[in-house]
Amino acid sequence: MISNIITTVLLLVVLASAVVEAFGYRSSKKFKPKDDGLSFKCPMEYGIFANPENCRRFYTCNGNIAYDTPCPTSLYFDDAKKLCVYKTADLQCGPVPVTTPVPTTPDPNAAPTCQPEACKLPDCFCSEDGTLIPGDLRPDDVPQMVILTFSGALNVLNGEPFQYLLNDTKLNPNGCPVKATFFVPHEYTSYYYVQKLYGQGHEIAAQSITNREPEDYWPVASNEEWVEEVIGVKEILHNFANVSREDILGMRAPFLKPGGNKMLEMIYDYGLDYDSSLAAPLSEVPLWPYTLDFRHPHKCLAANCPTRSFPGIWEFPLNTQVSDDETGSTCVFLDQCVFPDDPEAIYDFLVCNFERHYSTNKAPLVLNFHVNWVTDDNKAAALDVFIDSVLETYPDVWFVTMQQAIQWMRNPMTSEMAKSFEGWKCPRTRMAGCNIPRTCRVKLQHDTRVELRYLQVCGKCPERYPWLNNIGGNVNGKSVKDLVQKEALL
Ligand SMILES: *[C@@H]1O[C@H](CO)[C@@H](O)[C@H](O)[C@H]1NC(C)=O
Ligand SMILES: *[C@@H]1O[C@H](CO)[C@@H](O)[C@H](O)[C@H]1NC(C)=O
Repeated sequence: MISNIITTVLLLVVLASAVVEAFGYRSSKKFKPKDDGLSFKCPMEYGIFANPENCRRFYTCNGNIAYDTPCPTSLYFDDAKKLCVYKTADLQCGPVPVTTPVPTTPDPNAAPTCQPEACKLPDCFCSEDGTLIPGDLRPDDVPQMVILTFSGALNVLNGEPFQYLLNDTKLNPNGCPVKATFFVPHEYTSYYYVQKLYGQGHEIAAQSITNREPEDYWPVASNEEWVEEVIGVKEILHNFANVSREDILGMRAPFLKPGGNKMLEMIYDYGLDYDSSLAAPLSEVPLWPYTLDFRHPHKCLAANCPTRSFPGIWEFPLNTQVSDDETGSTCVFLDQCVFPDDPEAIYDFLVCNFERHYSTNKAPLVLNFHVNWVTDDNKAAALDVFIDSVLETYPDVWFVTMQQAIQWMRNPMTSEMAKSFEGWKCPRTRMAGCNIPRTCRVKLQHDTRVELRYLQVCGKCPERYPWLNNIGGNVNGKSVKDLVQKEALL
């Protein structure tokens, strides 16, 4: 009897440590590798994949180990979307072919791995495994940065909920209101709301003009295409929401499908400061942002991550988050970790991921949302309560923008000193564009395509819907390349 118990306990310990080793993650009792998981061969080392036998389940591969995971009740796994979704006509049941990673041959000019002696702040930061704190500060002294990022078109569907969520009553330890970062695509965006959020001191960053599908366009796009899409949307944000060019310094690849060196060359050539597109697998200790002088210090979940050196360009890697319910699903966009429609459960999920940062190396917690997070009452409420409760509970938690986080990393200081840090002072508020926007009805002309579009702006309506090769919205469209050749830009 007793020996039976001891054997059971031993067996459990052995099993548990095997799982911890596989995941490098302590709460891994949440992940249940099922027996049939052993017969499933991971198509790639990391990622989520359809269960070929059962459309209501999927496998999470972490270091080539497959974990069998159910979708929440009444949802099905769509392998094209990599999400659990409701059953529709275009549901992709079963595996879709895995696209082969883009760079197949090793790059002869690849950046070396981190060389700490050759990498000094403020312009270079790296560490061997990516988890080191800048400035050799002790975790206790480090301010915990939380960075709220929202991707997607800002418009009448979500404009007002943001006004409520990012309310001036939520204050950082220095008494300044919390700020968020918006990665804005052009299509369907209302520049009235962009100008309003920018005016309130939130950070506006670039996504792309078209946000086009198929998603696999992005990893293979040329450098010129990246320039037209990303610098193009930067110019449109400047032209139609009066966002100063000097304030748009960051980008995120559509669908988190980075374009490798071609995308980074665009960032480097056009003077952006940072990217936030490289997803990293779940790790026990999260990653700090780093500069791309050296090779990224983590496995890259995307097909085409940069391999060369881009000195001084910061990367905010996307730490994988994990849901703390029985599904144990993992995600980089929080809306893709599936949970019950219960604000309490969503709140617990946010807190659980916060704690993985706060209790280890205090790496900035980058929370990635799609804009429609705030239009779902349960999700918006959970985030609202989360912000208030961590600000109330912890004296060293700050909700900052990516640019503010870079300012701190360039000049690391204790939480106490951060209270008088110039870079975290209340941003000067700018004039809102207008109280009532103008809604313009304009033609979108692209190749042979002509469509009618609505566009909200505070200023004058453009003659055409701004688009690729027509970033001014004029009858005779200009591309970024046209403007660069005229040296009107930069
Ligand atoms: C800001 O929050 C307060 C208190 O929660 C609320 O009364 C007010 O309506 C909010 N402001 C906006 C613009 O939503
Ligand atoms: C645009 O912003 C600048 C400051 O950056 C300001 O001087 C100017 O008045 C603004 N223009 C409009 C039309 O709002």
